[in-house]
Amino acid sequence: MNILISACLLGLPCRYDGGGKLWPGAAALTAAGHHLVPVCPEQLGGLPTPRPPAERVGDRICTREGADVTEPYFRGAEAAVALARLLDCPCAVLKARSPSCGKGVIYDGSFTGTLTSGDGAAAAALKAAGVAVFTEEEGPALDAFLRGGHWKAIVAADAQWGIGKGGEQPCYIPADLKRFKALTTGHAVILGRKTLATFPGGRPLPGRRNLILSRDPSFSPVGAEVFRDVASLRAAAPEDAFVIGGGSVYEQLLPWCDTVYVTRLGRAFPADTIFPDLDAAPGWRLAEQKGPYEHQGLPFRYDTYRRA
Ligand SMILES: NC(=O)c1ccc[n+]([C@@H]2O[C@H](COP(=O)([O-])OP(=O)(O)OC[C@H]3O[C@@H](n4cnc5c(N)ncnc54)[C@H](OP(=O)(O)O)[C@@H]3O)[C@@H](O)[C@H]2O)c1
Ligand code: SF4
Repeated sequence: MNILISACLLGLPCRYDGGGKLWPGAAALTAAGHHLVPVCPEQLGGLPTPRPPAERVGDRICTREGADVTEPYFRGAEAAVALARLLDCPCAVLKARSPSCGKGVIYDGSFTGTLTSGDGAAAAALKAAGVAVFTEEEGPALDAFLRGGHWKAIVAADAQWGIGKGGEQPCYIPADLKRFKALTTGHAVILGRKTLATFPGGRPLPGRRNLILSRDPSFSPVGAEVFRDVASLRAAAPEDAFVIGGGSVYEQLLPWCDTVYVTRLGRAFPADTIFPDLDAAPGWRLAEQKGPYEHQGLPFRYDTYRRA
């Protein structure tokens, strides 16, 4: 497998201070037959080495002296996505906490070593492009991904991969709802707390084991199992589970899926929640297409994507 990797993790001297940060796990990946594709998004964005350290402040990235370097950071993030697509890298191992490469936790912009939740510019762009992103500190999760995921995802996406707005789906097609029920009944379904709230009465789906993600300790709906993090969910969920949304859950759990059933709507709807574009996402292939069908003038298809 081709794996994108932060160049500094290979010991290459590309960090802001001109150094590298050799990660011993890289050698194990090459020994296992993987091909590592080094990328330094900050250099690709045109920044010099060495360069002033920068941290993310809201949606901007600034140096300690207050210079706004957002533009080269985002240019570098786009270049990292282009490289992942060009060389078909389904996953990336990125340097933890960096304003470009950090995932989940980054420095908070105070230059005091304080951490806050969030993604670096390149990590966010790669995740949105459907690349499974891990930091070098997530060895077990990376190993599990490389062994292969077995869950399936099912989603209704519009012509621009929009999947919802204001908590609602783009539209509901009776035939698609029937198909969803037929595919998922008898299996476990994995969903976020906000998607559960969109179901009739906010109740779990009948005939299925409902596994819900929520960080709220007081949230305990009748007829469902609640998990406070992905690690405990992964330990409990069976291999034949379906990931059924919403946006944040698809993004986090796509790395553990080997198949995505997409009901592809023939036009764009207003959307604030987007599914990764699987036609452009590295490592995914359109395996099957059924349709077109039509519902009240709206054309749609059933597309099945599988990991290459
Ligand atoms: N088109 C489709 O097929 C489809 C399918 C499903 C949903 N949708 C749409 O997607 C949108 C909802 O997506 P969303 O991203 O806003 O919400 P969501 O993914 O359904 O739920 C988000 C919530 O899940 C919990 N959560 C997420 N990650 C977690 C983690 N790692 N650990 C613990 N809890 C975690 C949190 O709950 P707490 O806040 O309780 O901590 C979080 O607020 C809606 O518009 C919906 O209609 C579309
Ligand atoms: S941008 Fe990423 S690869 Fe480049 S030095 Fe920073 S953490 Fe390393």
